[in-house]
Amino acid sequence: MKALEIRNKYLKYFKEHGHKVIPSSPLIPENDPSVLFTTAGMQPLVPYLLGEKHPEGTRLTDYQKCLRTVDIDEVGDNRHLTFFEMLGNWSLGDYFKKESVAMSFEFLTKILEIPIEKISVTCFAGNDLIPRDDETAKYWMEHGIPKERIYFLEDNWWIAGEEGPCGTDTEMFYDTGKKPCSDKCNPDCDCGKYVEIWNNVFMEYFKHKDGSLTKLKQHNVDTGLGLERITMLLQGKETPFEIEIFEPIMEKLSKLAKKDNIVSRRIVAEHLRSSMMIIADGGRPSNIDRGYVLRRLIRRMTRHMNKLQIDLNELQKLILLNIDVLKEMYPELEKNKDIIVKEIIEEKDKFMKTLEHGEKEFDKMINKLDGNVINGSIVFKLYETYGFPPEITKDLAVEKGYKVELDEFDKLFKEHQEKSRLGSEQKFKGGLAEQNEQTIAYHTATHLLHKALQIVLGEHAIQKGSNITTERLRFDFSHPEKLTKEQIKRVEDIVNEQIKRDLKVTCEEMTLEEAKKSGAMGLFENKYGEKVKVYTIGDFSKEICGGPHVEHTGVLGTFKIKKEESSSAGVRRIKAVLIK
Ligand code: SER
Repeated sequence: MKALEIRNKYLKYFKEHGHKVIPSSPLIPENDPSVLFTTAGMQPLVPYLLGEKHPEGTRLTDYQKCLRTVDIDEVGDNRHLTFFEMLGNWSLGDYFKKESVAMSFEFLTKILEIPIEKISVTCFAGNDLIPRDDETAKYWMEHGIPKERIYFLEDNWWIAGEEGPCGTDTEMFYDTGKKPCSDKCNPDCDCGKYVEIWNNVFMEYFKHKDGSLTKLKQHNVDTGLGLERITMLLQGKETPFEIEIFEPIMEKLSKLAKKDNIVSRRIVAEHLRSSMMIIADGGRPSNIDRGYVLRRLIRRMTRHMNKLQIDLNELQKLILLNIDVLKEMYPELEKNKDIIVKEIIEEKDKFMKTLEHGEKEFDKMINKLDGNVINGSIVFKLYETYGFPPEITKDLAVEKGYKVELDEFDKLFKEHQEKSRLGSEQKFKGGLAEQNEQTIAYHTATHLLHKALQIVLGEHAIQKGSNITTERLRFDFSHPEKLTKEQIKRVEDIVNEQIKRDLKVTCEEMTLEEAKKSGAMGLFENKYGEKVKVYTIGDFSKEICGGPHVEHTGVLGTFKIKKEESSSAGVRRIKAVLIK
């Protein structure tokens, strides 16, 4: 069975079981700058797990594009991927453990026809705060999973980051039929006999910063089934690189490579797909945050193309081939074809310049050396300052008859990695928890600003992007030229007037059609489900939006535009604050 077929069967099954299909959110979370990328299906749904009403009801199913870059350096082995698709079904205060187990079991054994003997499961083992999950184990047994294949583990607990909605989980494993690595071999073991396929989280708690747990308003179920992995197992393949998503590009790379090596081919195929998906969802290479992740992906890919001795002019053809392979699953790739090609090729060219530049710096540095050993701090400096990859430094050094002291480099590099890992965890954590008074206020202010811009500049001034932190809002909109001082002042005045009027903010649910008819402003249309929420601010603004918002505009304080600048061609950017 191909991946797309599995996705379709999944959505159909859950639809037949009362779930509404919702579209995947973009990889780049909207209105949430604190999170780099969508890393799990739950992320766009956090407000609803916390009790906000979802316009589509209490049972949802989706396929979510996810990107996890913590393990980026592991890509190249036989399993790690940065981009993957997660199939999910959701109960928002609806069904709980019993039904969740029943549906997962039926889907795996009846729809995917996995023999029951191949399935093992794990349940939460219990700790000081929460008892062992015998209830879930009982349901598995009722479906015929024997006791010996039900394992209780302490790790069966799921939370994104350190704070937020969380709960115990039950995981399903597929037995690949490999020999057990020891008599103690179990699903917790990394030997490859058991492969995790599905994780059902029973999300009923909220974990606070101090580590304490409180019960959520409702019990939820969040499940995640990795599409590439299940496809690989059902096709009897050993790695995701052998399934139809990667196979054509792997083959092509093998043909093009003058010096073949499977690890490099996997890295090129994997990073190319992730980069394309990020760009299709609006990401662009840069030196910070998301842009930097994208930059790293493209650079690492380019480096491995070099290693394979593939002519870099082939890159465009590789991108087009990949779009062909993936466009049925992700039509956004075809739609954004030109920009994907442009961004990747430009970034590749920049990187080639970096390499040239780095080589010159390398030569300068070795000219100053006394002996023939290059110490690690030099390698690190080349890496940190010029983005010059240590492997290349090493290759060059060897070519020129030098030895490289890599221990020192490894130490510095680990410290550097630790810093960036902490950075991104911080961001992830912040994003989920950070729905506080300030960000909510900025969210409402964004609606006021959007409308005010349309009044002052005209209806063409529509939202192109939005980004909120606790300190400020940032809003991108289409407009061909710089705003004049007078225009900025008028926009501020209009927003402040609406704040002074203390307008009531109300929310209604309706179909997308009704919303459009009601004159609501809508963004990113293809992202909405059939039913949407429309937020109305007094008689001033009406916009399709997931919320949440303040109840009255009077609480917002004074609105001030701090900066107006160009964001990209035809798009302006405003940064603004609320002063209390
Ligand atoms: N949130 C859980 C996970 O990411 C289940 O979807 O595994």
